Amino acid sequence: MKVMAILETSSLYSGYGKIKVLFDVNFKAEEKKITVVVGPNGAGKTTLLNSIMGLATIHGGDILFEGRKLNGIPTYKIAKMGIAYLPQMGNVLAELTVEENLKIAGYLLPVSEVRDRMGEILNIFPVLKEFIHRKAGTLSGGERRMLAIGMALMRRPKILLLDEMSTDLAPILVKKVMEKVVQLRDELGLTIIMVEQAARKALEIGDRAYLLVSGTVRYEGGAQELLQHPELARLYLGVTQA
Ligand SMILES: Nc1ncnc2c1ncn2[C@@H]1O[C@H](COP(=O)(O)OP(=O)(O)OP(=O)(O)O)[C@@H](O)[C@H]1O
Ligand SMILES: [Mg+2]
Repeated sequence: MKVMAILETSSLYSGYGKIKVLFDVNFKAEEKKITVVVGPNGAGKTTLLNSIMGLATIHGGDILFEGRKLNGIPTYKIAKMGIAYLPQMGNVLAELTVEENLKIAGYLLPVSEVRDRMGEILNIFPVLKEFIHRKAGTLSGGERRMLAIGMALMRRPKILLLDEMSTDLAPILVKKVMEKVVQLRDELGLTIIMVEQAARKALEIGDRAYLLVSGTVRYEGGAQELLQHPELARLYLGVTQA
């Protein structure tokens, strides 16, 4: 069976203005799979997501989404094509309630669709249903991440780009967020590209993985295989083999 890459980069060189960050990156995200991107600070993980979204400078190579070239397309059009991006510091509007945040995220949709989408999202995240009238600013870190994901889902994207969802979360909450990501793949058939510092937990639930080091791909393959890799896991993931 031929595996379908819904999004790919071929020989991508990118950065910011004259600054070069990524070098010859060939990246593939398969449809309805979780692709995990790990690597040290400054390796270029966020830059890969920024490049996909039209937020970085492309120096060479191509970015393809469903076979269409994304190079040069403005960010808002890329979002409209069905790619949702939760940036590293992605946030919610603290002074508004959970319900208001979700409604704002779907503000361009017809009213009936907003209702349907909200129903679906509240089913996936029961904790949001429970706190629907609470101000987002009073939610815990983990609950706030769930709300941010819920907001991204209001527009029914095909791909979700998640940058460091687990930063500053207690291990138990990291596990919960990861379980939700798996649920989004399995129940909504979403394609997910997940950049993570919590490498071990992300690789445990991921399908495929990339290790970026100094802007180049050092590993491409199965996510659990990377965890088992004798030297890469120790060098870059802080994983010691038991
Ligand atoms: N807007 C920008 N302008 C110039 N240089 C930038 C910009 N954003 C990032 N960089 C530089 O690009 C390199 C890669 O940064 P990037 O944010 O992609 O790394 P990262 O792998 O996401 O790191 P982290 O794990 O710390 O989030 C770094 O050297 C960074 O300083
Ligand atoms: Mg980053």
